Amino acid sequence: PIDRRVDSVLALMTLEEKVGQMNQYNGFWDVTGPAPQGGDAALKYEHLKKGWVGSMLNVKGVKDVRALQKIAVEETRLHIPVIFGFDVIHGYKTISPIPLAEAASWDMEIIERSAQIAAAEAAASGLNWTFAPMVDVSRDARWGRVMEGAGEDPYLNSRIAVARVKGFQGNLGEFNVAACVKHFAGYSFAEAGRDYNTVDISNNTLHNIVLPPFKAASDAGALTFMNSFNELEGIPATGNAYLQRDILKRDWGFKGFVVSDWGSMGEMVTHGYTKDLKEAAEKAANAGSDMDMESHGYVEHLAALVREGKVSEDKINDAARRILSVKFELGLFDDPYKYCNEAREQQTIGKKEFQDGVLDVAKKSIVLLKNERSLLPLKKQGQKITVIGALANDKTSPLGSWRIAAEDGTAVSVLEGLNQYKGNTITYAKGADVAVGKTLFGSETKINTTDKSGFAEAVAAAKNADVVVMVLGEHGLQTGEGRSRAKLDLPGVQQELLEAVYKVNQNIVLVLQNGRPLTIPWAAENVPAIVEGWHLGTQSGNAIAQVLYGDYNPSGKLPMSFPRSIGQVPLYYNHKSTGRPGGDTPTESVFWSHYGDEANSALYPFGHGLSYSKFEYSNLKLSGSSFGKNGNITVSVDVKNNSTVDGKEVVQLYLHDLFASVTRPVKELKAFELAEIKAGQTKTITFTINEKAIEFYTANNKWEAEAGDFKVFVGGSSVTKLEVPFSYTN
Ligand code: IFM
Repeated sequence: PIDRRVDSVLALMTLEEKVGQMNQYNGFWDVTGPAPQGGDAALKYEHLKKGWVGSMLNVKGVKDVRALQKIAVEETRLHIPVIFGFDVIHGYKTISPIPLAEAASWDMEIIERSAQIAAAEAAASGLNWTFAPMVDVSRDARWGRVMEGAGEDPYLNSRIAVARVKGFQGNLGEFNVAACVKHFAGYSFAEAGRDYNTVDISNNTLHNIVLPPFKAASDAGALTFMNSFNELEGIPATGNAYLQRDILKRDWGFKGFVVSDWGSMGEMVTHGYTKDLKEAAEKAANAGSDMDMESHGYVEHLAALVREGKVSEDKINDAARRILSVKFELGLFDDPYKYCNEAREQQTIGKKEFQDGVLDVAKKSIVLLKNERSLLPLKKQGQKITVIGALANDKTSPLGSWRIAAEDGTAVSVLEGLNQYKGNTITYAKGADVAVGKTLFGSETKINTTDKSGFAEAVAAAKNADVVVMVLGEHGLQTGEGRSRAKLDLPGVQQELLEAVYKVNQNIVLVLQNGRPLTIPWAAENVPAIVEGWHLGTQSGNAIAQVLYGDYNPSGKLPMSFPRSIGQVPLYYNHKSTGRPGGDTPTESVFWSHYGDEANSALYPFGHGLSYSKFEYSNLKLSGSSFGKNGNITVSVDVKNNSTVDGKEVVQLYLHDLFASVTRPVKELKAFELAEIKAGQTKTITFTINEKAIEFYTANNKWEAEAGDFKVFVGGSSVTKLEVPFSYTN
């Protein structure tokens, strides 16, 4: 029935009105004031009244959304509602951990719940579309946007993409929003990790590594996609028909619409791909980019391009049909004010239940990287604890990047979290500043991050403490879009601060707060306990305190490898063998793939994460030694919790396809289970491997399973050595 309703609307529309649906503007005036007079805002206002604006972004709050929707519904000829989009990336007002941190939970239920909370608050605020999830597989920690995705693995990214699409969209009720899967495609492969830089990857990498999470999200029913700023094979993604028409719409049968990234149509001119904005609009429309975010290319040129025969009206009909269908699916034609309920807005945003929800996600996202001398969990009574680091006392940084609706200063700091526990004496010293002083939208204020005048106070406070908790890392706004880094160490003078404190007290628990893997070889060597505390959102400090005190037994595992040195980047566990592979041990010969001055391996590998429990793996078995077409094989392993505390372990299964029509990675994650195992208990975990698990994009340029020999590995991280062989015959 939606199709018929869409056709009936389409039949009434002029070419300009169809093109209008393909036009998206940023919120352009304060709708509570008088109508704009003159300039760009007045022009946009006129366009809105003519029905030439299909969507708006960055308008929020029921009052404003309602006022704008009223213009679209009451003043335009066909009364077509506007769809309102917003970057609800990891929460709206109540902020969840950054997506990279959430990925560390490997817990699909809580990731879905987190997206549900974000959607409920955003929808209550009048919004009906989020520009999330970002599913870019990220191998380069220099790229600032790794914080927005699920890390380096295509399978984990795919599972999380599905969970997040389900969480946002639910049953498309009044507490749900449409998802937008981004950035299609290849954006995270920007050369040297520099945001917006050139991308040059093989078709093999595109299909086997980049595309799987997008496909999974499309199959899960994501209503929209966003293309990306980068080029691929010399063609900017916005003008790339191979990506948008051939792969997404033809091969995958995607029925929703594709929005461009901000200004990415216009940037095709800067890329050197089109002579002017008009040609950019032509290329984008022909390539299947359905909606123009703020380039003004469609609204200014598309109708003329159709009249000149450069873009067919069929293509315009297809794009408008896709956009109208999503509006129908969201129920906006039935009730354009479906999302505009002031009472619901009041009752929903910041609800206690949501605070509890994001606290739960935050605890589960923390990764215990190292814990020697049983420094953790902290004792609850009679301890002198010194807390050091500007980030420990920061109520803004833990909100992370991309949380544009949440106010600064609304996170629980680590210091506040620790102060909830009354049995110990806590002293605080800042030591040194961290932040470069970036605001959410990029401008910088001057902060002296080289000042060491606070060191003496910090060192004195550390001297007689039983334990020193040092909270170091990156400010929340040192990661995210436009925040690439050429160094991955602790910014500013934090490394020196750490070493100065270590000289007087070695009982250091280092709590990292960061939006990407960091290079911390000195800390890994010397500091006894290291906790990856990311940017965990509104409840950050409470989550960290509960983990430090053992009220939550950490269960997170890294979704991205931590390099030893910046020179290893891009570093990822699922690399190829090469013709001259090698481990970390130096040999006489130099003619193998290695560095003269650094190991090959990660400092902390993908999938690594400890617990206060101790898990032991044994008895890896297969139900047979081979399987054939439509068959399968069962893998089982015993996991023992050899400790006195109940815990959770992410049991991970990897495959290695030993030889194939194109070379395959040395290990690929294919399954995992988050297993709760009681103290002293042994659980047998089983997995099934079928054809699906061994399929890949072959030399025939299609997904298929090839006969051959494989190894299956199971363990608590990607470096597990527990393996058994099997073969597949088709
Ligand atoms: O959604 C974002 C995108 O990820 C980066 N450019 C701007 C868009 C809208 O804010």
